[in-house]
Amino acid sequence: MAKVLVVYCSLSGNTKAAAEAVAAGAREAGARVAVKTGAEAVPEDLTACDAVALGSYDAFSYMGGGLKDFLDRAFYPTQGQVQDKPYAAFLTHGGGGKAAGSIEEVAKAFRLKPVCAPVLVKNRPEGGAVAELKALGARLAAAAGK
Ligand SMILES: Cc1cc2nc3c(=O)[nH]c(=O)nc-3n(C[C@H](O)[C@H](O)[C@H](O)COP(=O)(O)O)c2cc1C
Repeated sequence: MAKVLVVYCSLSGNTKAAAEAVAAGAREAGARVAVKTGAEAVPEDLTACDAVALGSYDAFSYMGGGLKDFLDRAFYPTQGQVQDKPYAAFLTHGGGGKAAGSIEEVAKAFRLKPVCAPVLVKNRPEGGAVAELKALGARLAAAAGK
């Protein structure tokens, strides 16, 4: 079964809710899913998965520290092992949303391969935003199974 990793950071729960929606979409599409905060995740989680979702809140137009810390710790230990691994980014924000670009830039440094455009959600995901996040999870599950 394809393995999807969802790594995220969240201070007040919006991005946690988004991560849970991504995970639900990937599970419903048939993947085995691990959901971890940036603080919980270790570099081996990234090498072991078949696809990864990277999620954050917008923090001064950059990704939050929890996700950044994980990506910093994972960079050297995973070098040469994650090239072309499918990934997708998701972000919650308060009205800006520019931080998605920072996740995309770092993903490029890892040489991860985007499966879709980032999903941006203002504050807590509801309704259509939950559907978009679940679709992102399903896209990742499909890419992970290839
Ligand atoms: C320190 C800090 C900086 C923030 N900077 C931005 C920002 O630059 N642009 C924006 O749209 N929202 C910004 N926000 C709002 C959060 O991104 C938004 O409320 C987000 O949904 C919070 O996610 P969380 O509940 O997962 O922590 C900021 C919030 C914090 C705590």
